[in-house]
Amino acid sequence: MSISMIAAVGQNLELGYQNQLLCHLPVDLKHFKTITSGHTVLMGDRTWESLPKKPLPNRRNIVITLDNVEFEGAETVHSIPDAIALVRDDEEAFVMGGATMYRLFLPYANKLYLTRIVSDFVADVWFPEINETEWQLIDNEFIPKDEKNIYDLFFQTLIRQK
Ligand SMILES: NC(=O)c1ccc[n+]([C@@H]2O[C@H](COP(=O)([O-])OP(=O)(O)OC[C@H]3O[C@@H](n4cnc5c(N)ncnc54)[C@H](OP(=O)(O)O)[C@@H]3O)[C@@H](O)[C@H]2O)c1
Repeated sequence: MSISMIAAVGQNLELGYQNQLLCHLPVDLKHFKTITSGHTVLMGDRTWESLPKKPLPNRRNIVITLDNVEFEGAETVHSIPDAIALVRDDEEAFVMGGATMYRLFLPYANKLYLTRIVSDFVADVWFPEINETEWQLIDNEFIPKDEKNIYDLFFQTLIRQK
């Protein structure tokens, strides 16, 4: 079992503003879909609420909340250990946000898929600081901006150092 995290961040680790993503980048949505399809995605309830279409198709959706509620089309758990127990037979499961979940799952994650958007954003949530000595960059693909994607970005993959 391996826990990965996937996020799109600005130059200051910005993640979102007013429970929305920073910007609309079709190339990144496609990247997210390619990487996560067929796998389990784990998310906090605020991220679930922010999804325009839910559950995310072709993926097992798990929502984490402290509240005693259920989410149609998703499994619900109330703690990080319970979430990890649910994916123990997965080869690779993905934490897809938001800020609270990235912070809580970071100690358990051994792979990060970070889309680094080359811009600054107004934000009210941030990805946790990454200790550079603990992580090795194994992939760094530059994607230049175009007519549909208004910012340059890098698709980075980092793995936890042994
Ligand atoms: N850039 C990206 O890649 C990306 C990806 C995903 C999300 N985002 C952005 O991130 C923002 C949302 O992040 P967020 O931090 O506000 O919300 P979140 O991580 O999606 O969900 C937070 C919720 O998790 C629950 N929770 C908190 N601590 C918990 C614990 N110890 N055990 C179990 N459940 C716990 C609480 O739900 P209850 O109050 O119901 O208990 C809390 O409201 C939005 O702006 C969204 O657009 C960005």
